[in-house]
Amino acid sequence: MADYRPTFSSNRLNALAKGIGAKTYLEIGVWKGDTFHNVDTALRIGVDPSPLFDWKASLNASTHFHPMKSDQFFSSEAGRYRFDLAFIDGLHEYQQTLRDFFSTLALSRKHAIWVIDDTHPSDYFSAMPSQGQAFRGRAQYGNESQAWHGDVFKVVLALHDFLPALSFCTIATGGNPQTLVWRQPRKGFKPRFGTLEAIGRADYFTFADNIDLFNLKPEEEALAEAIAGANADGR
Ligand SMILES: C[S@@+](CC[C@H](N)C(=O)[O-])C[C@H]1O[C@@H](n2cnc3c(N)ncnc32)[C@H](O)[C@@H]1O
Repeated sequence: MADYRPTFSSNRLNALAKGIGAKTYLEIGVWKGDTFHNVDTALRIGVDPSPLFDWKASLNASTHFHPMKSDQFFSSEAGRYRFDLAFIDGLHEYQQTLRDFFSTLALSRKHAIWVIDDTHPSDYFSAMPSQGQAFRGRAQYGNESQAWHGDVFKVVLALHDFLPALSFCTIATGGNPQTLVWRQPRKGFKPRFGTLEAIGRADYFTFADNIDLFNLKPEEEALAEAIAGANADGR
């Protein structure tokens, strides 16, 4: 049996799973499987077209894996599942991540929580939709950093402006920032961008100028807020 090491993501996901009594966990983008194999729920489902682990050796009654792109999964296999907890960490593109989010929304239970990775780009190049363009652009300035978050940050702008029945906050400490989402109406809802077209045009400077929308919190506070919101009565 391979040795899968806990990650900051699996630690956060297990805290959330415990807080809402999650039975079913979905991970979009599993890579080497370290986070996936360390999330402790009765059923975990992984989706990745290019997994870097022996996924066939992992299959059993509580571990399902679908070696395919998320779009294919949601348009074929996913309908038989209902999710309590979803980790969206596949292709780092705005449209794809938004599609993954909407697809899980349609198959989620009421108290579900989502963890969306890569919502907080580290610099201008990191926020570019193309990984190659980001690395080439940075290299022109003598910086060889391979950080790349893509334009996933726009998903948070879209949630903010178009889904007032959902609440979210972003973990700002203890590892890569990640945005937590749960069903709870956002009081005082007021769109800021107005159109999906304006959000599509956003760049790193839009992100930096609107950082307040991300609702940044220390890790423990963010996890506690998501759990309390997801469990709240009268929603
Ligand atoms: C950053 S890694 C995931 C890391 C993993 N969640 C973890 O915590 O260890 C991104 C993964 O997304 C996968 N991926 C890329 N496009 C995808 C898609 N359309 N659907 C699902 N997974 C995808 C890649 O193959 C890669 O393994």
